[in-house]
Amino acid sequence: MRKHERAGQTQFLMNTASNTPQKRILTGDRPTGRLHLGHYAGSLVNRVKLQNDYETYILLADVQALTDNYERPETLQAHIREVVLDYLAVGLDPKRCAFVVQSLVPEIAELTIYYLNLVTLARVERNPTVKTEIKQKFGHEVPMGFVCYPVSQCADITAFGAHLVPVGDDQKPMIELTREIVGRFNQYYGETLVLPEGMYAEVSRLPGIDGQAKMSKSLNNAIYLSDDADTLKKKVMSMYTDPQRIRGTEPGNVEGNPVFTYLDAFHPNTALIDELKERYRQGGADEKGKPLMGDVVVKRELIDCLNSLLDPIRTRRAEFEKDDAYLWDVISDGTRRGRARAGEVMEAVRSAMKLNYPVKL
Ligand code: TRP
Repeated sequence: MRKHERAGQTQFLMNTASNTPQKRILTGDRPTGRLHLGHYAGSLVNRVKLQNDYETYILLADVQALTDNYERPETLQAHIREVVLDYLAVGLDPKRCAFVVQSLVPEIAELTIYYLNLVTLARVERNPTVKTEIKQKFGHEVPMGFVCYPVSQCADITAFGAHLVPVGDDQKPMIELTREIVGRFNQYYGETLVLPEGMYAEVSRLPGIDGQAKMSKSLNNAIYLSDDADTLKKKVMSMYTDPQRIRGTEPGNVEGNPVFTYLDAFHPNTALIDELKERYRQGGADEKGKPLMGDVVVKRELIDCLNSLLDPIRTRRAEFEKDDAYLWDVISDGTRRGRARAGEVMEAVRSAMKLNYPVKL
């Protein structure tokens, strides 16, 4: 969808070669803040590619975000806006991807209720996230919404009849649970639901700038797609490197050094990076005693590389930011398309469960 072209109902595309309908993809994000480089490397790049070959639904999972943010619902709206700005900025095309607001698709809540009959408490307690939170924090005082969120995620996936779910490895338990629930549903009520498959991208998780395994908002160690050049520079300059290397003249470690992990992930010139790594490993000083390959040199290379990656994204984001009406049009259109699809699935589910009463309301 081009800017200023108002969003209308969009027909989904057909695969030209086979002239068969495209398979459907469903994926989603919790709208809890702006998206960062970890999201970019881990999912956005992949989604931009996939959107050409699949009918794509991207869920703005506000209901799921509420399961651990229910005291602050007022933040969700702003976050949905930020996330969709990031989507558009990286090149997700709202004609190809429906951006769907989860809370505006009541079919998902309805499906969740039916699925709850098909799962035991013991089973959801085996979900790693639920298990850890119960053990470390809540005990029996755990909110039911939180315990049930894996079931709600099964409803997210099945509500759109998704064939494929492109996600990170951390979402594997949800996909497995979904497949179990779908199997059980189809067994009790007849073949109705599509059995979805996880699609796991071969990307390693990006560490935080502090060297922790994961880049995340809550750890305050993320570089955002919307960070300006100054912020980016400060963050990279403060990055954790090789803690063993006290002076830049000492031999340094490249493995597990997040500056090099980022360079590997984003720098287009691998030969140059190999050379930097070699010199970093060697260490050594020039005739004045200055390091031949200090952290600052490597960090400058990373700053340049990230600026070239982020500049076009920043420019597009700034464009879209100027037109709020367009942004909400895109969200309305995507949600409308999502609801239409979920309505079809819901009808099939109701008739399979014999809930299709001949009443007029
Ligand atoms: N649980 C996902 C996350 O935390 C977000 C999400 C919600 C999702 N519903 C989904 C992902 C359905 C894939 C499919 O990132």
